[in-house]
Amino acid sequence: MIQIQQNFNLKTYNTFGFDVTCSHFLACQTADEVQEALVYLKEKGPNYLILGGGSNVLFRNNFDGLVIHPVMDSIQVVREDEEHVWLEAEAGVEWDRFVEFCIDNQWYGLENLSYIPGNVGASPVQNIGAYGVEVKDCIESVKGYFIDDIVPFELDNKACRFAYRQSIFKADLKHKTIITSVVFKLNKKASYNLNYGPVKEEVQKRGAITLQNLRSAIIDIRKSKLPEPDEYGNAGSFFKNPVIANEQFTLLQKQYPTIPGYPMEPSLVKVPAGWLIEQAGWKGKSFGPAAVHNKQALVLINIGGASGDDVMQLAEKIIGEVADKFGITIEPEVNIV
Ligand code: FAD
Ligand code: EPU
Repeated sequence: MIQIQQNFNLKTYNTFGFDVTCSHFLACQTADEVQEALVYLKEKGPNYLILGGGSNVLFRNNFDGLVIHPVMDSIQVVREDEEHVWLEAEAGVEWDRFVEFCIDNQWYGLENLSYIPGNVGASPVQNIGAYGVEVKDCIESVKGYFIDDIVPFELDNKACRFAYRQSIFKADLKHKTIITSVVFKLNKKASYNLNYGPVKEEVQKRGAITLQNLRSAIIDIRKSKLPEPDEYGNAGSFFKNPVIANEQFTLLQKQYPTIPGYPMEPSLVKVPAGWLIEQAGWKGKSFGPAAVHNKQALVLINIGGASGDDVMQLAEKIIGEVADKFGITIEPEVNIV
């Protein structure tokens, strides 16, 4: 039997720490409760928002509607063979607890994604990525319900249309599904991805290349750059790294010889937005109670008492100045509510 709470405070349910409320809030403890919640939505028709750990959302205002927060959190081995194991994790499993569980069992694939906040259910939504790995590399399928008609679905990896910080859940199916679990396929045999920046060197400082040493290296690299949300409210990278045409990159290189760029598909280059923002003079600067983090310019922070509008005002100034200087319009990665 679902229990809907009224006038619920979301301050500890969003990592920006904004003091906002929703008119109705429901934590779903089981997949059956998710179904019941969807029946309620169909009958009563309120606005709704599916919320995991709230580490990639920005609330501009109080939310007038029902927030559905999946908390069911089982992890099961559903299949295995000599080389692989298939695991189904429910939406409410905390992401980093899941990564740690896999590492403890010597299953390879997710270790570079250590210490990303949030829950399993959101991991396919923006195809979380870090240090040379994206979660799509290990996703077999995603299960859930279509919200409108309460029909269950299971989409295989290809059908999820994963791309850099993108999936069908952020595009054609935006706000149309609730993800209840994700099936992952992990390796039983050692395979490491150590190519990103300082990762290999940091692992070697710890001794042999092992899952535990790789996890520890990733966590330390992250801690050296990214603010903990309980220190300064934030949602990780506020913007996506823009992907531009080769020709535009070559022109920019003539004017800014040190501009970094990472080749994507044959004719595209990904440019670090953190570099663009730093060059535009914003790193470490504040604007009212919102600021640009001084160690990673891609992260906007709440330095105390900021609202979603304060952070958006800062974001809009940055977008404008980066566009004026480089002719590139950077876009938020964070989901604006
Ligand atoms: P939420 O913020 O609650 O939701 C995000 C979006 O997914 C919303 O649109 C929501 O409606 C939707 N959603 C959530 N759960 C479901 C569900 N069950 N069904 C359907 N839709 C759902 N991200 C990276 O990719 N790489 C990083 O390295 C990284 N580092 C970060 C570091 C910090 C300090 C912080 C604060 C954030 C970072 N992030 C990073 C962003 C964030 O952690 C991820 O996007 C994470 O997957 C969000 O999970 P969540 O449960 O908090 O989702
Ligand atoms: N850079 C600067 N100044 C800065 C920050 C970055 O010049 O203040 C430049 C440097 O050239 C640096 C490059 O940007 O070498 C890349 O920086 P970093 O390795 O920190 O990665 P990022 O591109 O800024 C992305 C993800 C992060 C992820 C890291 C590590 C996006 C939008 N962000 O950041 O994801 O953790 O790579 O893989 O793709 C998130 O999505 O919330 C997030 C934190």
